[in-house]
Formats: sequence, C-alpha cells, structure tokens
Amino acid sequence: MATTSQAVERASVARPSTATTEPAVRMDAPTRREFMYYIWGASIALLLGQATAGLIWFVFPRFREGEFGGIFPFDPADLPPVNAAPDWVAGGRFHVSNTDDGLLALYGVCTHLGCLPKWVASNVRFECPCHGSKFTRNGTYIEGPAPRGLDRFRTTIVFTDGTSAETDETGGPIPIPDGKTIAEIRVNTGSKILGPGH
Ligand code: FES
Repeated sequence: MATTSQAVERASVARPSTATTEPAVRMDAPTRREFMYYIWGASIALLLGQATAGLIWFVFPRFREGEFGGIFPFDPADLPPVNAAPDWVAGGRFHVSNTDDGLLALYGVCTHLGCLPKWVASNVRFECPCHGSKFTRNGTYIEGPAPRGLDRFRTTIVFTDGTSAETDETGGPIPIPDGKTIAEIRVNTGSKILGPGH
C-alpha cells in the first residue's frame, strides 16, 4: 500500500507545471537572409510567369478568322476573270488580282508612305493618290517614289481534286493549272511578303 508521501509525490508529477508553459508552436521571425530569399524566389516566379504568358500569347493565334491580321476566306465565285479589275477586300485591306501568271493577294497599302493606291481601269494599273506611284496588275513597281512593288499576303488555294498551291517565297502569282477548279482561297493577312524591289 502506498504511503501518503508517495501519493503526494505522484500527484505532483502528473500535474503539468504552470510555471514554465510554452506555446505549442513557435513562430520565429524570418532572418534578414531568409526574407531576401523569399523576395528573390517570388521575383523569379513572377518573371517566369510573365515569360510563359508571353510565349502562349505569341504561339497561339491572336486574330480570329476574317479579322485583319488573320486568315481571310475568299469566295472563289468572287474571283475576277483573268486580267479583269482586281477585287478589293476592304476588311482584309487587300486586292485579289487574277493575272496571266496566276492569282495573288496584294496588300492595299502603298510601299512609299502608306496611302491606298486605287485600281484605275482606264490606265490598267494601280495609282497612288498621294505621290503618284504606279504599279501593275501584279503589284510590280512602274514609277514614282515607292521603293518597291506592292507587298503581298501569303495565299493558299485548294482545288476540288484535293490538291493545293500556295504563295512561294518570292510572293509571285500562284499559277492555276488548266482543268483545275478552285474550291477554296485563303489569304493570310498576318503573313506579308515584301514586294519586288526596282
Ligand atoms: S504614299 Fe504612295 S506614292 Fe507616296
């Protein structure tokens, strides 16, 4: 049997001491070095986030179809006959010109100072109203202060037999082979080829 002094001793061991209580979790303030690490890490994360967002914005198309800067479907039924007046597409700012050598989409902005050359049927050429530069039906420079011919947009033609043709690196007309029927014309106003120099 336990003595009275032993019972008192056990009770004093089991009872938590109230004189030396400490908080369950200690929160030490970060040191100056740790604080600088946090700032540095946050800056790197922000920089990487911005770079990733920029990459995504660059890689994915920024323009919808039919919006200047994007792809413009051009109805083959609207294609002018060979050597007829080019067709002006205001939304895409280009002329579709059908020449002896094929089809091309000419950017409608003068390569001099950015006015809009008009097709002048009586002279069979484009003429710029600002300083008089002139261009042939396929955008070749004729005369005036323009430094080169009219720029052109990359174009893809799909034929009814499933074959296709597109603008080459020179930006010249796309030939339409005899016997082929055009099913689809797509003009990429986001991809411009500079007109030929002189
Ligand atoms: S802007 Fe066309 S000739 Fe000057």
